[in-house]
This record gives sequence, C-alpha cells and structure tokens, in this order.
Amino acid sequence: MEFDVKSGSPAKQRSACIVVAVFEPRKLSAAGEEIDAASAGYLASILRRGDIEGKPGQTLMLHSVPNTLCDRVLLVGCGKERELNESQYRRIISKVVATLQETGSMEAVCFLPELNVKNRDLRWKVRHAVEAASETLYNFDQLKSKKDAARRPLRKLVFNVPARSDLAEGEKAIAEALAVAEGVKFARDLTNLPGNICHPTYLAERAQEMAKANKPLKTTIIDETELKKMGAGAFVAVSQGSDQPGKLIVMEYSGGKNGDAPIVLVGKGITFDTGGISIKPSDGMDEMKFDMGGAASVFGTMTAVLKLALPINVIAVVAAAENMPSGKATRPGDVVTTLSGQTVEILNTDAEGRLVLCDAMTYVERFDPDVVIDIATLTGACVIALGHHTSGLMSNHNPLANDLLEAGETAGDRAWRLPIYDEYQEQLDSNFADMSNLGGRPAGAITAACFLSRFAKKFHWAHLDIAGTAWKSGKAKGATGRPVPLLTQYLLDRAGSKKRKSA
Ligand code: BES
Ligand code: MN
Ligand code: ZN
Repeated sequence: MEFDVKSGSPAKQRSACIVVAVFEPRKLSAAGEEIDAASAGYLASILRRGDIEGKPGQTLMLHSVPNTLCDRVLLVGCGKERELNESQYRRIISKVVATLQETGSMEAVCFLPELNVKNRDLRWKVRHAVEAASETLYNFDQLKSKKDAARRPLRKLVFNVPARSDLAEGEKAIAEALAVAEGVKFARDLTNLPGNICHPTYLAERAQEMAKANKPLKTTIIDETELKKMGAGAFVAVSQGSDQPGKLIVMEYSGGKNGDAPIVLVGKGITFDTGGISIKPSDGMDEMKFDMGGAASVFGTMTAVLKLALPINVIAVVAAAENMPSGKATRPGDVVTTLSGQTVEILNTDAEGRLVLCDAMTYVERFDPDVVIDIATLTGACVIALGHHTSGLMSNHNPLANDLLEAGETAGDRAWRLPIYDEYQEQLDSNFADMSNLGGRPAGAITAACFLSRFAKKFHWAHLDIAGTAWKSGKAKGATGRPVPLLTQYLLDRAGSKKRKSA
C-alpha cells in the first residue's frame, strides 16, 4: 500500500474516488462545497433529500458526479464540525479505508486532513491517517491455505493538504507513520503466531535475520546453558520445564555516538504460558500464545527505529522462554537465586514473567543504560484495573514516566501511571527467601512491578504492563501491536524531534 500527499482542488482530481467530509447536520466540508459548486449543487441536493446526516462513520458512495474528473465521490460523516476528537478521527479514517477496500476503488484522494481535530496539527492528522489506514488493512492469513484477497484492493491513498507549503510536513508525517506501521505489523505478526511456530528459537532467528539485514544492528543470543552458568536462576526456573530451550536475545542498535548511554527495552517473551505446575484453567488458554506481546513490541519498535535511522543508541533485550509443566518444571515453593544474587521463593509458577524479566534487567546493567523500559503482558490484575484501552505504567523516575505518558498521548497509544509506593513491598515477604514471587490479590499489577523494582536499583526504569492492550479477544481475536506506537514516539522524542512539538 502506497501513501502520498498532494495539494489541489477536489473537483479537478483525476482519481477513482475522492473522499470528503459531511458534518452533522447535513453540512458539507470546504472540499465538499467546492465539488458542490462545480456540480451545480448536486451534493447539496443529495443532502437535502436526507441520504446522509453526517453522523460519525456514516458513508455514501456517489458515482459520476457532474463536472468532476473522478469516478466516485465518497461522502463520509464526521459528526459535529467542532467536536471531532482524536479517536473519532482515526475511526473515521478506518471506516473510509474499509469502504474503499470493499467498493473497488484501487486508489483515492482523501480530503479528511482538512478536518479540525482538537489540539492537533496537520502533521498529526496525516500521520494518524496513514497509521489508521495501515492498521485497518492488516490481515493475518499466513497460516490459511487459501487467502481471500480483496478483488480490487486499495493500492494508493493520497491525502490532500490545504496548501503546497504543507507538503513537506505531510511527507515527514508519512515517513514516520510508515515506520510505526511497519513496526506495528511486525509485532502483530509475531504475536499472532502460535506457540508451536513462535518459540524462543524462532524469535532468536528473527533477531539474527534483522541484524543480517541491517548494518547498525548487532544481535547476540545467550542460550539456556549459558544463562544457567551465568547464574540467571530465575530465568532458568521458568524455562527448565519446557523442551524448547530458552534464550536471552540482545539486539544492539548503534545510531548515536559511541559513548551515548543507550535506551534499553526489555520484552517479556513467554512464547506460551501454561502457568507451569500452577497450571492455568484450560478455557481460553490459547490466548497465552500472546504472552510474548512485550517481546514482539520490542521487535516492532526496533524495526521502526531502523527505518527512521534514529540518531540514538537503543538496546532491545528479549527474555524468551516457554512456561510448561513437566517432570523438570519448577515446583511451587522452590527457592532460586537470581542473577542479582537475591533469592526468590516461587510460590506460584504462573507468576513467571517477573522471573524472566528480573534476570534480564540485571543483565542489562552492563550496558550502563540511560533508561530501562520493560514491556510485559504481566498481570491479569492490570486488565481488571485498566481494561483493554490503557496500558499500565509504573516507574521509579518521574521524568521518564511523564515522557512515556506524553508519548502515549501523542501516539494514540495511551498508558496510565499506577503507584509503586514502598507500602506495597511487604506483600512480597517470604519466610524462606529474600522475597516471594507472589503478592496476593490486592493490587496485583502493582506488586508485580514492586517485584521488578528490586532489580532496577541501578537505573531509571519504567514498566509497561500491556496484559490488557497487547491483544483483543472474541470475534476480533488477535494482536494489536501495542505499545509499538508509544515506544516509537518516545524514541522519536528522545532523538530530538520533540523540539517541533507536533506529530
Ligand atoms: N501472562 C500472565 C498474565 C495475563 C493473564 C495476561 C491473563 C493477560 C491475561 C501472567 O504470567 C500470569 O499468569 N500472571 C498471574 C500472576 C499471579 C499468579 C500472581 C495472573 O495475573 O493471574
Ligand atoms: Mn503466567
Ligand atoms: Zn505470563
């Protein structure tokens, strides 16, 4: 799918379809007015008859509108002119793209960047239009023997901007959006793959492939035997029950200066989480193939960083393991020594994410990171707290937390901060080790983060709990690619584009 920007008059566009807004109640946008004038009131007469009211997401496809050079005009309802918010804007774009895909226009010129979205500039509007369009056209059919491709798929979407002087901004917005979209797609593909295909070795191979294809990237794989030797007892305790060997995957991107402290991303990569000996109920357990969504977001973000060639150093670490019950599996009550030297009583083998992450976090101390951000489908409790629209954010450093919250707002991929006050720490007390891996029912998302905070003493750290946002259940079951947009935005901001304060 190709995207472009141009600036021109709607009635003069030679295109299969042009897309213009209708506001509630039955009011044409500026582009709509122009077509109406050219066609001697044709659009106004249709509105008068009441075929489209202008409610958000309503559509009406018109053919052969008089005195235009396009085959079709798609009218799309955008609600009250002054009340359009960010998510409505994205939903409208999504509806437009789905309609174009179904109705056989293989290319189109879209005049929706002229809409007024509260507090957002043109760059934001073009960027989010491209991201929403890519997201809508995503289809995971790798594993279907017959693909049902659209008959006449949408191949090119051009966004019209008000003035020629806006073209440069529009092109930048497209470049950023394409990077985010490619990262999101990669994350979704990886996350959607089932556990029998996407296991730790598979993830390691994908990381090696990426390094081969990209000069500034270096991949190192640390296998389970080495991890054991090194003393990563918590990681090994999770992985040892599986026939699939665990891996710590390290991808180092050097886009910045040699001495620049890296931004480190650590992803939870449990390629399947049965719960281990503390086995999960079987209903819906298939969704635990998504338990490597954090790892996938790290892969996706690296993809975006490479595409944007950001002038910063980023290290992505994936803690990849499968959590299985077996004769070799960890038992509840087992005590293990983590890479940090702290001991953990594993009271529940289903609280495995924090165990692989804690050793990965100790491992990354060697990079002397500027900040460390871990991303994990960590707790069901976070889903109870925040539902499916907002990721949980916990941090030991306020400026980092605020930067991430702001990046999430800009990217339309929001997080909300939860506290990790000291008072919660005692829920992790153990009679037999330095701590237990279980904090009890109250504030489960917070106590999981409190556990991780004990391994983040040496750096600024933030934790994103994406248990509710990494995938959807039900009829639309599948990965979302979140929080690739948030993370990419954070890195874009860090790379200096923040000064422009726009997209
Ligand atoms: N991967 C799960 C968390 C999860 C559960 C994410 C459901 C999305 C939906 C994690 O490994 C887990 O099992 N967490 C336990 C922790 C508990 C045993 C302390 C949980 O949330 O129940
Ligand atoms: Mn678990
Ligand atoms: Zn898990």
